[in-house]
Amino acid sequence: MRPPLTPMRSGLWPARRGVGVLGRQLGEAPPRGTAGGPRRPGGRPDAGGARRGCGLLLSTSPTMAASSAAPRRAPPRWSTAREGFIQSGEVHIFGYARSNLSDDGLRERIRGYLKGAPEDLSGFLQLIKYVSGSYDTGEGFEKLNKAISEYEASNKSGSYRRLFYLALPPSVYPSVCKMIRTYCMNPSSHPGWTRVIVEKPFGKDLDSAEELSAQLGELFEEHQLYRIDHYLGKELVQNLLVLRFANRLFLPLWNRDNIDNIQIVFREDFGTEGRGGYFDQYGIIRDIIQNHLLQVFCLVAMEKPVSLKPEHIRDEKVKVLQSVNPIKPEEVVLGQYDGYKDDPTVPDDSNTPTFASVVLRVHNERWEGVPFILKAGKALSSRKAEVRVQFKDVPGDIFRSKKQGRNEFVIRLQPSEAMYMKLTVKKPGLEMATEQSELDLSYGMRYQNVKIPEAYERLILDTIRGDQQHFVRRDELKAAWQIFTPLLHDIDDGKLKPRPYEPGSRGPKEADELSARVGYVQTHGYVWVPPTLA
Ligand code: BG6
Repeated sequence: MRPPLTPMRSGLWPARRGVGVLGRQLGEAPPRGTAGGPRRPGGRPDAGGARRGCGLLLSTSPTMAASSAAPRRAPPRWSTAREGFIQSGEVHIFGYARSNLSDDGLRERIRGYLKGAPEDLSGFLQLIKYVSGSYDTGEGFEKLNKAISEYEASNKSGSYRRLFYLALPPSVYPSVCKMIRTYCMNPSSHPGWTRVIVEKPFGKDLDSAEELSAQLGELFEEHQLYRIDHYLGKELVQNLLVLRFANRLFLPLWNRDNIDNIQIVFREDFGTEGRGGYFDQYGIIRDIIQNHLLQVFCLVAMEKPVSLKPEHIRDEKVKVLQSVNPIKPEEVVLGQYDGYKDDPTVPDDSNTPTFASVVLRVHNERWEGVPFILKAGKALSSRKAEVRVQFKDVPGDIFRSKKQGRNEFVIRLQPSEAMYMKLTVKKPGLEMATEQSELDLSYGMRYQNVKIPEAYERLILDTIRGDQQHFVRRDELKAAWQIFTPLLHDIDDGKLKPRPYEPGSRGPKEADELSARVGYVQTHGYVWVPPTLA
């Protein structure tokens, strides 16, 4: 378990509750009325440019990285500071990118994404500096190292901790990491550490990912590398481990004897607006399924780890990934929404799926015969991410409750975080009729005064504390690519084609047919409504 953190009670940032974070990541809208990225009609701000430009940053004490061109990354850091987990004077942030920008220029770019009293914000923004330089020559990195070293020399904490956050295209990871290794490491004569956070995509298939891992592996030890997958920082994803292994209720149920099928679903109600150029090279499987949904899958399907030590947990994740059978083409449905190719950055003959439903089969004692349906799509009718565990029918059902629908345990990751269990109950009244209802733990109701931290906020804090539990290990990444690479190559070679679907729909109808074919029974007439405070 994590050591408790002491909230700061005085200093630069008052520990006040209830202040929200603006945005979590590239692609998220800035607050209303603030200077954010350009918005496309009906879409999110242009995050494509942000993703491309950016930098890395660092500093000392808890050293953090920000980015000139990815200012949406700053809110989690601000929030972390706001809540008092980063102490005044302990952190300094250096933005590094190619653009010519002053310190104030970077601060202004970031300011629009932060909420809070102007005097608090100004204090935070003063911690941010900017250094410009290229990604593959020593000059800029020497300048960066000088700036960091000057700060370290002026800081009396005696602690030298440098955290580099790379929000960059993976093609420049090796050269940037080489520059960091050559020019910017914490000198071995100083106590402290140097850590590097890298963002997906980690390659495009098994070979390219392995090549990237090998290149980074020559420069940094595994304990210095933090491969971030922000889904692992989401509250309800982190809860999966507790839920499964701390509750007697679930232990005997969580297997092929009781569970018919499991769906892990990601839906977005907007397209690839502003990110078409990036997205088209990757597609929905590389963008969402091979990483975010597969990480959730691991936590749902893995065996109980020996302990909560990060290596024990990650060992179990690797094992379950290695137990996944090759994907069958007939258990895949791909889609591309109409209008996707209207984006001028997307080629007219693009074969890239914006929707995919893929059935995974786990070859082990617990899960043999239980389909895991991993489904993700853009430009659909709603936005949500959830895990839906559907139980088998009741044998010898005297109530004929089959028509009400099966028991389901739903873990709603976002929005409106909740867990609910769909049950058949007696309909209140004089008659002995049944209906479907639910046991509902909705976080908004149950934890009214609790602020759920942003995923990045939590993960960056983990990095500072050296906890790799929620980061992807190299062998885990390899096992994940092994599952999807044959399918991805078939798509890249045009052997599998996406089916068109209407934006704002549920995706191709063949996806619902596939779910039904492998056993999912949709409950008609029951809709879960997130409870609201009166
Ligand atoms: C990112 C993907 O990793 O996750 C985006 O690149 C996607 O395409 C985003 O929109 C979704 O994250 P969240 O936290 O909003 O579900």
